Amino acid sequence: MVARSTFSYPMESTSSPASRRQFLKSGSIGAASLIAAPYVARGQGDASPVKVGLVGCGGRGSGAASQALNADKGAVLWSMGDAFDTQLKASLNRFEGGSKGKAGQVQVAEDRRFVGLDAFQKVIESGVDVVILATPPGFRPQHLRAAIEAGKHVFCEKPMAVDVPGVRSVMESAQMAKAKGTNLVSGFCWRYSTSRREAMDRVLGGDIGDVRSYYATYYTGPVKPMPPATARSEGISDVEWQVRNWYNFSYLGGDSLVEQAVHSVDKVSWAMGDQPPISAVANGGRTRDNNEGNIFDHFSVVYEYANGALGVLSSRQIPKCFNENADYIVGSNGRCVINGGRVALENERGKEMWRFRSSEDNDMYQEEHNTLFKAIRKGEVVNDGDWMATSTMLGILGRLAAYTGQRITWEQALQSTTDLAPDSLKMSDSFDPGSLPQPGVTKFA
Ligand SMILES: NC(=O)c1ccc[n+]([C@@H]2O[C@H](COP(=O)([O-])OP(=O)(O)OC[C@H]3O[C@@H](n4cnc5c(N)ncnc54)[C@H](O)[C@@H]3O)[C@@H](O)[C@H]2O)c1
Repeated sequence: MVARSTFSYPMESTSSPASRRQFLKSGSIGAASLIAAPYVARGQGDASPVKVGLVGCGGRGSGAASQALNADKGAVLWSMGDAFDTQLKASLNRFEGGSKGKAGQVQVAEDRRFVGLDAFQKVIESGVDVVILATPPGFRPQHLRAAIEAGKHVFCEKPMAVDVPGVRSVMESAQMAKAKGTNLVSGFCWRYSTSRREAMDRVLGGDIGDVRSYYATYYTGPVKPMPPATARSEGISDVEWQVRNWYNFSYLGGDSLVEQAVHSVDKVSWAMGDQPPISAVANGGRTRDNNEGNIFDHFSVVYEYANGALGVLSSRQIPKCFNENADYIVGSNGRCVINGGRVALENERGKEMWRFRSSEDNDMYQEEHNTLFKAIRKGEVVNDGDWMATSTMLGILGRLAAYTGQRITWEQALQSTTDLAPDSLKMSDSFDPGSLPQPGVTKFA
């Protein structure tokens, strides 16, 4: 049996192999996460406006807002919030300049442009139906809770938190969304990719037998490098400096495993039926100067599952090295390989049994918003809360194991009380983000 946690997992009632397989097949989104719900977009008809508020107007937030406008001709970008005025203006200029969205869909009046760390609350209160959360993830649990409490539909970028108290909060918010019947769509985008869904449906349906191991690679160059200390302007507060360079501070970004490679962690979890592992053992460290930042630039994690399966993830963000973002899922009768355009199943002799026709793949980022707006229009509810929290927790478990150099169990990790990202942060604050962890020295807390 798989270890149980204090989280509630949808698989708990499915015990026979047949029912397990049934769940796993439908559990890859779609039917299992769609439940009938009241129409909550305030009685609008099919082409009536659905007002969208964007929190975090950077690269992904602007992209997600654009996809929201593409998804539904009645979607209107109604309000925007960002920590920094320049970021908000740059994003709005791109929308108003016509490169994103369609005529009439961008209606961000001046009094609906909010700047500062409290901008999220003002966006939520600006009369919107849908909130897009795309700030650094340290803020996500607080923003998600506020949006769900206010009864909004949410598109929530990954990861959903950077620490265990944050994951707990996300779980509660997801439950609250279920109770309210509002949509909660996750930015773990591979779950919305046609090719990956088809591959995972086959894997979970038993086409390569029982999953014995998963080797995922996330080898890239640096994602958002830390500027040199000399780039810090005089008089800028710690928090402002850190928020501007959020990726390099674990309290804001969660570190490279939780922030980036978590996409691969999510796929491991997907292939394992979104069941938590028993434990994780991990390596990690930093080989390149990170100035004031405190994140690792490589991780290697082994997740141990109750049935003996191993999920292995290796990530690196170092230039001039071998790059690859691939998945090798080994089953008792074959394997599934996902590597760029090749999404295929092979039998035990390595002969290809099935291959996804890449010309039939979709735009997964667009699909996330198509799903959200379709559900809103039809009065249905998509709630990705359980698995998106599990995948985030899995990333954090791997990071805890790497930071401490210890084998950490899932149950133990759930007891972590370290709250990296305080909700009370002010832009003018001084804040010590902590030094680079040292395996063998850093303690689990
Ligand atoms: N699903 C994907 O493939 C994908 C791709 C890229 C990014 N992302 C996720 O999207 C999030 C944002 O990433 P990005 O690349 O757009 O980063 P970014 O730095 O381009 O944008 C983040 C924005 O949030 C703003 N911000 C920071 N703190 C804020 C706060 N408290 N309130 C309001 N605004 C705040 C920043 O000023 C910035 O404009 C991250 O969680 C990242 O993991 C997901």
